[in-house]
Amino acid sequence: MDLDAPFQLDYTHRVRFTRGVFDPDNRTLTSLLEPTTDSVARACVYIDAGVSEAWPGLAGAITTLFDVHPALSLEAPPLVVPGGEGIKNDPAQLEAILRSVNEAHLCRRSYAFAIGGGAVLDTVGYAAAIAHRGIRLVRLPTTTLSQDDSGVGVKNGVNAFGKKNFLGVFTPPWAVINDTDFLMTLSDRDWRAGFSEAVKVALVKDAAFFDAIERAAPAIAERDMTAAEPVIARSAELHVRHITEGGDPYEITHARPLDFGHWSAHKLEQLSGFEIRHGEAVAIGVALDSVYSSLAGHVGAPQAERAVGCLRSLGFTLDHPLLDHPGLTEGLEEFREHLGGRLTVALLRDIGEAFDAHEIDPALVARSIEYLRAMG
Ligand SMILES: NC(=O)c1ccc[n+]([C@@H]2O[C@H](COP(=O)([O-])OP(=O)(O)OC[C@H]3O[C@@H](n4cnc5c(N)ncnc54)[C@H](O)[C@@H]3O)[C@@H](O)[C@H]2O)c1
Ligand SMILES: [Zn+2]
Repeated sequence: MDLDAPFQLDYTHRVRFTRGVFDPDNRTLTSLLEPTTDSVARACVYIDAGVSEAWPGLAGAITTLFDVHPALSLEAPPLVVPGGEGIKNDPAQLEAILRSVNEAHLCRRSYAFAIGGGAVLDTVGYAAAIAHRGIRLVRLPTTTLSQDDSGVGVKNGVNAFGKKNFLGVFTPPWAVINDTDFLMTLSDRDWRAGFSEAVKVALVKDAAFFDAIERAAPAIAERDMTAAEPVIARSAELHVRHITEGGDPYEITHARPLDFGHWSAHKLEQLSGFEIRHGEAVAIGVALDSVYSSLAGHVGAPQAERAVGCLRSLGFTLDHPLLDHPGLTEGLEEFREHLGGRLTVALLRDIGEAFDAHEIDPALVARSIEYLRAMG
């Protein structure tokens, strides 16, 4: 028998913006949970160590919220896990999270709450996706990057064999709650980092949004929350809409406009031993591929200059000694291998419009780096 039986899965991507998510009278979180049994939503909580340090009362506030809410049950004290890329590089951290899920007897209808930056969300998300073949993940992103990009995505994973996200799965979270209060305690580096993803998605999808970021950039660089909030929200929305309406949520086809600037970014992160933040590397990668698009004749020089100028006014440094590393263009082959099939790199045709290129000329990459440096 030959049987081809197509089927679809129904998901709803639930993304909320709020402030003070753990205040007892904030209903955002509780309204998103369904009871695990007849009366109680059972959960474990994982907190990024950087967040826990900046918000010393957080674990207590969460415990109190669970205590006062009869429909919630915290199955173990909140577990503080290391923040930053280190957690994705250390298999012992993944195992510790899985062990806690096991010891708390969470089931497939229970919840894992992940509170932290993209690295913690990726790791807890991966553990949640593979434990019992998937328990419910509620992400509470605490960095600009995780609020405007990674936290609202459907990817989870950790690094292995020195390669980013070598182990991972596509699994939508049960819900995502962006609490902007968390952003106040970020370092300047981590505050800035996320806005490169907003510039990226604007450049490939939305010219008017790019104009808005350009206008807001100097205020964002000064950490003006009023200027930053709408940029984070629109970037998150564009990422969500790409996933839910773009027709390819699990990235089965070649086209990956949201990976604009990422082939070199991933390689720079890796070559630097993850000293360069993902968002910082994306800023360099986006600048590089904007200039490349221009030198290859796909987009005008003024558009490429605006892309570079916008990243600069957000405060990014777009040069790095590792741009001279001979291994940089190996990033193209690793990008192709990770994504499968033929090389597909998004380039710009205009601000707000990308297309897929299947060849990248290493000599032109080298000229683009020189050009980027000459722009000062
Ligand atoms: N899954 C995806 O689709 C996807 C997309 C893009 C990026 N990513 C991944 O996300 C990771 C980068 O995430 P990131 O930029 O959020 O940084 P991060 O997770 O590396 O965190 C950076 C630092 O900020 C600290 N921190 C986090 N929130 C804080 C807060 N509110 N106050 C004070 N300190 C805080 C952390 O402890 C850490 O030291 C990378 O691993 C990247 O590959 C994943
Ligand atoms: Zn990215």
